[in-house]
Amino acid sequence: MTETPRASIILGITGGIAAYKAAELARLLVKAGYAVQPVMTAAATHFIGPATLQALTGRPVLTELWGRPPTPTLPTSGEGANAGSKPINDGMDHIHASREADLIVVAPATADFMARLAHGRADDLLSTLCLARACPLMLAPAMNREMWANRATQRNLAQLIEDGVHIIGPDSGEQACGETGLGRMREPQAIFDAVAAMLFDGVLAGKRVLITAGPTYEPIDPVRGITNLSSGKMGYALAAAAREAGAAVTLVSGPTALATPAGVARLNVTTASEMFDAVMERIAGQDVFISVAAVADYRPTEAGAHKIKKSEQPLTLALTPNKDILASVAALPKAPFCVGFAAETEKLLEHAEAKRRKKRVPMLVANLAQHTLGADQAEVVVLDDQGSQTLPPADKLTQARRIVVHLARLLR
Ligand code: CTP
Repeated sequence: MTETPRASIILGITGGIAAYKAAELARLLVKAGYAVQPVMTAAATHFIGPATLQALTGRPVLTELWGRPPTPTLPTSGEGANAGSKPINDGMDHIHASREADLIVVAPATADFMARLAHGRADDLLSTLCLARACPLMLAPAMNREMWANRATQRNLAQLIEDGVHIIGPDSGEQACGETGLGRMREPQAIFDAVAAMLFDGVLAGKRVLITAGPTYEPIDPVRGITNLSSGKMGYALAAAAREAGAAVTLVSGPTALATPAGVARLNVTTASEMFDAVMERIAGQDVFISVAAVADYRPTEAGAHKIKKSEQPLTLALTPNKDILASVAALPKAPFCVGFAAETEKLLEHAEAKRRKKRVPMLVANLAQHTLGADQAEVVVLDDQGSQTLPPADKLTQARRIVVHLARLLR
């Protein structure tokens, strides 16, 4: 697998006892498919060994403003969710690193680090990266309750918030020093959730997205038809996720029992031909077309006007191929950015990549049909010109949000 665009995060760690929890945060971020570059202050290295962060992220930990990072002893390409990206290692490391990052998250952020940031100091690598950044910055403060309550810290906090820095936590509870109060770092899972939400926010703002979802139903006679097991859940989750991400979403849906996601314009169709017409009538002006529907490949050549009566003789049904909606949209002179889906039952990567090339779409999401149809959880593989990336199992809305983030990065 080669590298695909995915959100890059600088994980800053400063010198507090909560630094050990940064390891769990790094693990969660890497597992979710983010590229994580750990950066530690000198003080942080007294609380947790850089080797731990290097092992979890597959990248050398950066600590020094001057000089090159240590030679990696772990693989940095070819395997592992976080492998494959170039570590930063020339004289302008801080500029490159802060330009490439989609987010800097500092967890834990000590009182001293907050003070330095509030004053725009750049006296070590991490504070320099923060000052040189062109991306959002999130801090997860962690300190003794008296230090947190101190007017100087509160003054710095107010300044950082005014400067647009996002603060998560701290929590209240028992502290390492034995006291109880406000100052504990938020749990890694909570920080992870905040990071995922921030990277997702508004990524499709101003975009128009047309999505097909659900099965189609091809009548044989007035009471029978050909359909498939698609539930429509993935397409509806994508419509909800694209809407959450700021897009104006139109959903062209085959027959499903699902509720329309809030803020989404829905149009119901039954057959593949109706779906084709509904899409073609609305495709002009769309920025993105996401073809999730399980469109029937064939329809009965002639649908009987009356119920077919049973007889003892074998019955042969003549079928006519339906038009391929996705391939037709992708072939338009002013085609929107097209995303296809592929449900396969074997040789997933091979069949999916062949389908992506045949339909000439820049992005295709593939899954194993027997694991996904009607299920609430899905593991999917995203294929694009750069290669493939596996998105680990998650509920369909989480998966849809990850697909939207991937799509937004390709659109850029
Ligand atoms: N698709 C479409 N119109 C069709 C058939 C498929 O738009 N008539 C789209 C689907 O929405 C999906 C992609 O094409 O995004 C792949 O669908 P899939 O059923 O997996 O592939 P097929 O092209 O039908 O190939 P096969 O059934 O042979 O695997």
